[in-house]
Amino acid sequence: MIRYDKQSRLLVLDNGSIGYVLYVNEAGYIETLYFGKKLSDYTELLAVRGGEVGCSSYYDPVKNEEWSYADKYRDDRTPLEVSSHGLADKRGAPVVVRGADGSFVTDLRFAGVRRSKGAPVLEGLPCAHGNCETADILLEDARLPVRVHLYLSIYADKDVLLKSFRIENAGRKAVRLVRAMSMQLDLPRRNYDLVHFHGRWAKERDLCRDEVKDGVREISSNHGRSSAEENPFVYLQERGGSADRGEAIGFNLVYSGNFKFRLLSDKFCGVHVTYGMNDEDFEWKLAPKEKFYTPQAVIAYSAEGTDGMSQAFHRFIREDLVRYAFDGAYKPVLFNSWEGCYFNFDTELILSYIDDAATIGTELFVLDDGWFGARDHDRAGLGDWTVNKKKIDLARVMAHCRERGMKFGIWFEPEMVNPDSSLFRAHPEYALGGEGTLGLGRHQLHLDFANADVVENIYRQMKAFFDEYPVDYVKWDYNRTVTDHISRALPADRQGEVYHRLVLGYYALLGRLTSEYPHIMFEGCASGGGRFDMGTLCYCPQIWCSDESDPAQRIDIQFNTSLGYPLSSIGSHVNDSPVASYAAKAALALFGTYGYEMDPRKLTEQECSALSETTALYKKYHGDVIERGTLYHLLSPSEGNTMCMQCVSRDKSASLVLFMNKLKEWDIFRFVRLRGLDAKKRYACSFDGRTYSGEYLMRVGLNFSEEMLAEFDFRLVVLTEA
Ligand code: GLA
Repeated sequence: MIRYDKQSRLLVLDNGSIGYVLYVNEAGYIETLYFGKKLSDYTELLAVRGGEVGCSSYYDPVKNEEWSYADKYRDDRTPLEVSSHGLADKRGAPVVVRGADGSFVTDLRFAGVRRSKGAPVLEGLPCAHGNCETADILLEDARLPVRVHLYLSIYADKDVLLKSFRIENAGRKAVRLVRAMSMQLDLPRRNYDLVHFHGRWAKERDLCRDEVKDGVREISSNHGRSSAEENPFVYLQERGGSADRGEAIGFNLVYSGNFKFRLLSDKFCGVHVTYGMNDEDFEWKLAPKEKFYTPQAVIAYSAEGTDGMSQAFHRFIREDLVRYAFDGAYKPVLFNSWEGCYFNFDTELILSYIDDAATIGTELFVLDDGWFGARDHDRAGLGDWTVNKKKIDLARVMAHCRERGMKFGIWFEPEMVNPDSSLFRAHPEYALGGEGTLGLGRHQLHLDFANADVVENIYRQMKAFFDEYPVDYVKWDYNRTVTDHISRALPADRQGEVYHRLVLGYYALLGRLTSEYPHIMFEGCASGGGRFDMGTLCYCPQIWCSDESDPAQRIDIQFNTSLGYPLSSIGSHVNDSPVASYAAKAALALFGTYGYEMDPRKLTEQECSALSETTALYKKYHGDVIERGTLYHLLSPSEGNTMCMQCVSRDKSASLVLFMNKLKEWDIFRFVRLRGLDAKKRYACSFDGRTYSGEYLMRVGLNFSEEMLAEFDFRLVVLTEA
C-alpha cells in the first residue's frame, strides 16, 4: 500500500481505492502532489507539479551569492505536507518550535522514510488500530536540533488516512513547542463548501455550510473540551454535491480538548488546511531527549458523495477506534433515572423504577447523579465518591436488577469538585485556578488533572467503588468548560501545558479504569453532547448525544451527529417531553443506542405496550442493521421540513427506514428513493404490506404520499428479504 521510490522521490500511499502522493523535492520539502481517487499512473504527476512556474531564491552570506532551487518549487505556493514557519511560506505551519535561543523560525526537511504495518502508538494518547500501513517520515530542522516524525497511515479496507507528529528534542537545551498541530493538507482549490457543526447545550451539532472564499476560516474550541459550541468533525464538500454525488473530504481528531481547524484559501488557487490542538495559550517545554506526540488526525475521503465519507468514518470508529471489547458489540436497552426523578430518590423509588423499567424490556438500569456524598442537589458532593447510604442501599438495588435479569450502571463526574465537598475542604489546591476568585460552572470547580496526585486520588476512590460494587456500566459526565487554567502543581514556565495536561489526565484515568475493568461499558457525556469526539470514543463505545430528546431539536442533532459518527455510538433515549408522541420519540431513538429516561410510573398500559414493541424491534434489528449496518442519509432536516435515514444490514437482507417531518404538511406526494439494497432481491415492506424489488425501491422509491402529515409525524419502515 505504501511505496517510496528513491529514484523518482515519489512516496505513494494507495489502497486500491484512494491515492495520496508525495514528492520529496530538491530542497527537502515534501510536496503534496495528489489526494483523491486512485490513479493508474502516478508518475504523470511529476510532469507539471502544482502547475507552478518560477522558483525561490536565496542569499548565501558566506559565499556572497544568490542561488535558487532549479526545480519548480515556490515556497509560498507549492502544496506541501509541512510548511515552514518564519520563512517565505506564510500559509501557516502545523508545528512551530522556539529554539533555546528563543527564536521561532522552524524549517523541517525530509531526512528519510520507513514503512511499518499497523498504526503508530502515541504515548499517553488514545489512538486507532486496525488494518493499515504507516509511513514514518523523518524530518529534521535546518537549524534547530529537533527531529520530527510525520506519521502517515492508510487503511487497507476503508478510505481513511491518519496523520500525526512525534516531535523530539535532540539537542542539549530545552526547546518550546508553541504550536503542535497534527496535520497539514494542501489541495488545489475546487468549489468547496466547508461544513461544520456549531451549537450549544441541548442544541448540539447544527449543520453550518460556508462557501470557501478567499482568506482564513477557523473552526475551533477553546473551552477545554471538544465542546458543544463546535465539534471536531468538519468536512469539505464539492459545491452542488449531495449524499451520493461529488467529492467529500472529512476531518476529525482523536482528541477531547481544545482544537483548531484552520483553512486558508489563497490567491494562488490553493486550499491550505492545518488541523490539531488549538495553539491558544499553548506552550510545551521539551527537555533534551523528550518527545511530544500530537493527537491523531483522521481524514476520510469519498468521490461519491458525503455518505461515502460518513460510512468510512463509521466503520473506522466501530472497527479501528473503540476498545476491542466493544467493537461491534450489542448495546443493551438502557433505562436512566435522571429525567424521571433527578436528585430526588430513595431505595424504594429506585426499586419501583426497576420493576417498571423491566416491563418495557430494559436490559441495563442506570442510576444517574445523586447517589454519593452530600449530593442532594448540584451544589454539593462532587469529589466524594462514596455511596450515600442514608439515601440509597446500592447493594439491594443491584441485587434487584440481577433478579430481573438486568445489568446495572452508575453515574460519575470524575474531573470535578464542588467547593462543598470533603475533597475540596481537605485539598483546596486540587482545584484548577490560582489565588483569588475561582469561576464556578454549575456550582462546581474543575479538578487539576494536570496534577498526577489528583488523578490518583480519584482513581483510588473509583477503584474502591468498583471493587465493592461490580457495576456493568458507567456514565462518565463532564458538566462545565475549563476556566482558570492555572495549575498549582506546575511551575511558571509550564502553565502553557495546562489545557493539554488536563486532557492527558482524563485519558490516563479513563484508560487505566477501562483496562483494569474491561467488562464495564463506559458511556461518555458532557452536559449532553459537549464532548462527543473520537478521543472519548476510543474508551467509550457510546456517548450521550444531547440532553435534548425532544424531536423538535433531536431530529437535527441525531441526523447531523450521524454524518460523522456511527449510530452505534449515539446515546439516544425516549423521554416524556410533551411535544411528540412516545412512538415518534422511540422511532428516532432506535437510530442510536436505545434507552428510556422518564418516570416509568406515569406510563399507561397502552404506552407500555407500544414502547415494548419498539424495544422488541430494537433487540431484533439493532445488531445487524443499526450497529453493524450501513447508514444512508436520504433527506436532510437542514435542507427542508423532512428527515429520512435508512440503515441496511451488511448482507442486504434487512433495512430500517425512518421518515419524519417537522411541521405539519398537507397533500404530500413524495417518493423517497432508497439506497444500498440488493436490486435483485425482493423485500417485504412493513409500511404497506407489499413486496418490492430492491431495484424498484432504489429507482422509484417508497411512496410516502399522504393527505396530511401532522407535526413530528413519522413512518418507520422495516424491509426484510421476502
Ligand atoms: C448532565 C447530563 C445529564 C445528567 C446530569 C446529571 O447534564 O447530560 O444526562 O446526567 O448531568 O447531573
